[in-house]
Amino acid sequence: MRWNSNLETGVEKIDIQHKEIIKRINGVLEACTQQRGKEIVGDTLNFLEKYVIEHFKDEEESQIKSGYPKYKEHKILHDNFIQDLKDLRNKFEQDGATLTVVLNMNKVVVRWLARHIMQEDKEFAKYYKSR
Ligand SMILES: [Fe+2]
Repeated sequence: MRWNSNLETGVEKIDIQHKEIIKRINGVLEACTQQRGKEIVGDTLNFLEKYVIEHFKDEEESQIKSGYPKYKEHKILHDNFIQDLKDLRNKFEQDGATLTVVLNMNKVVVRWLARHIMQEDKEFAKYYKSR
């Protein structure tokens, strides 16, 4: 997953956090191609759980402060994603870094983030900048 202008929201704080998340995800993807996926899955899950929750909080705070009309819908998407991460974590705890876990991490996390940033986050950023 490469950072590109499609992913840019134009809100500096959000973009910086998105870049960090993508950097970590790329680390996993790279590790997987070098057969080191298993070592890095646990670390990345730890990072994502903490960092994503913080990042979502920041985004939600900006949405509340700016009176974003779609705040509730946006928060539900965030909450669902956090639940998906938790499910993935449980699977990892239970089965270890199996191929399924590694693949799901890429599929669930990468696809969701790319879509979410390009659609929902950009929509909010547009609103945020237009106030
Ligand atoms: Fe978001």
